[in-house]
Amino acid sequence: MKRILITSALPYINGVKHLGNLVGSQLPADLYARFMRAKGYEVAFICATDEHGTPAELAAKEKNTSTAEYCLEMWKIQKNLSDQFHLSFDFFGRSSSESNYKLTQDFATTLKNEGLIKTVKEKQLYSQEDSRFLPDRYVVGKCPECSYERARGDQCENCTRQLQGAELIEPKSVLSGSSKLELRKTNHLYLLQSKLQEKLKEWINEKDDWPILATSIAKKWLTDGEGLQDRSITRDLEWGIPIKTNGITWEGMEDKVFYVWFDAPIAYISATVDWTKATKKDPNEWKTWWLNDHGAEDVYYVQFMAKDNIPFHTLSFPATLLGTKEQWKLVDYIKGFNWLTYEGGKFSTSMRRGIFMNDAIEIFPSDYWRWWLLSNAPETSDSDFTWKSFQSCINKDLADVLGNFVSRLIKFSKSKFGEHIPVGSHYSNLEKNTILEILKYFKAYEESMGIMEIRKSANLLRKIWSLGNEYLQASAPWIVVKKNPEEAGKIVRFGFNLLNFYSDISKPFIPVTCQKIKSCLNISYNEKEWPENKELVFSDLKGGESFFVIENLFSKIGDDKITELQIKFGGN
Ligand code: 2FM
Ligand code: ZN
Repeated sequence: MKRILITSALPYINGVKHLGNLVGSQLPADLYARFMRAKGYEVAFICATDEHGTPAELAAKEKNTSTAEYCLEMWKIQKNLSDQFHLSFDFFGRSSSESNYKLTQDFATTLKNEGLIKTVKEKQLYSQEDSRFLPDRYVVGKCPECSYERARGDQCENCTRQLQGAELIEPKSVLSGSSKLELRKTNHLYLLQSKLQEKLKEWINEKDDWPILATSIAKKWLTDGEGLQDRSITRDLEWGIPIKTNGITWEGMEDKVFYVWFDAPIAYISATVDWTKATKKDPNEWKTWWLNDHGAEDVYYVQFMAKDNIPFHTLSFPATLLGTKEQWKLVDYIKGFNWLTYEGGKFSTSMRRGIFMNDAIEIFPSDYWRWWLLSNAPETSDSDFTWKSFQSCINKDLADVLGNFVSRLIKFSKSKFGEHIPVGSHYSNLEKNTILEILKYFKAYEESMGIMEIRKSANLLRKIWSLGNEYLQASAPWIVVKKNPEEAGKIVRFGFNLLNFYSDISKPFIPVTCQKIKSCLNISYNEKEWPENKELVFSDLKGGESFFVIENLFSKIGDDKITELQIKFGGN
């Protein structure tokens, strides 16, 4: 049986994430992890906060605290929110951990020994007023491409062009506002990716089952113009991983740290190290996930991320791994996502536009958000969050389809038969045909979950729920009971078996609801359980079992509430 390694792109430490961040990696990764665990696979689902780089330093300065303290606080907040959304990480680590320092320094040392790192003298913006270099986001100015006034030294948020600080027109220091900047010479380390171009091409060309979104971006970078460019892997910052080998700083690198995009993906590995050290008998178990000569060859490794992260995962990180000539596990499948927009515009962290995880969880239960986000995941194109669409999706799918089935069944059963599932006659054609129909959709559902087709899986699940309502409608136990209570008892018993089945198969999407259903049925909830695709599963409950009544599983969202939220969160 294959072991499955799942990583979700590491959320930046600076600030609570919005729903676009959530649906762009962590939530779909959780869906897949939950499904694979339920199917009986051994899963390692790893995430961590991405803590280095200029955004963390700047956010800490704004809050008048040290970067280390700021990061610890934000890690706790992010961890707590991911728990509230029931993201089932096996480990939620930090890229600033000791193990990531060590591993990142080891990688750089090996790459240097392989002749893949060189020192390049280049000109960087230096602020006299601040007495420091201004890397990445420490400088803003006019974008040379689109003239956007607040383009940053790493990228223009408006037109997405990647930039160097020196390219900005009228650059200014973010720290002091000073425009007294000069270009000063300084040394930086470059990873010679160009030397790995052929190896990378070979590797990516084998990935014929990957979505176009993932391969096209990588292939473009490999073949356009002069091909893959060498890239700088150091920055003039205090906060980050120092450039050392066995505790000794590299010459000329005293005031520098590794670039955040060099150490962040390495944190996928070091978070696995931290996980196995913290929880496993054998602290070296991480090697069985990450080193091919320790068993990782048999691991299936899937990465989840938004599309802007794809080049780093199809080129830069594989270059780091391949360049060492060691036995590192490379990703087997990349699931990339387009953007989620908010009421027709962009979600924006800096402008706090859209809905953020902390606000979301205070308004509605996590399953509401999980269901909307997953069933509308921006898989093949962007999706737009609107309050109206949220309202209609929750009211229709959760309240009218699933919720209604549950409440009709349970209320009727209790009123006619008390708090035990009735025993009744054998299933007849109506039940048998319903089972066949459900199993047909269930098979398709399992297949699409296995290949991470998220919206399609949600559609199939919705269809399976609606077959329950159709069955109740067609069998009409409320009429049958008048003449033939035993027959009505059978209908109800079948309904309870459907409900039990629903709670087993829906848990990757709406885990809290599924636990509620299990406790209503007096059955323990087991995340590692998955029904077999067989008629027999609809006879698990034989009758005579006790159950509890659950009041409404979902509450409908009214128009007034939606108007209030539109105003509060700046919707239409
Ligand atoms: O884009 C982002 O949110 C990055 N923090 C993702 C990093 S993924 C990994 F490589 F670390
Ligand atoms: Zn621009």
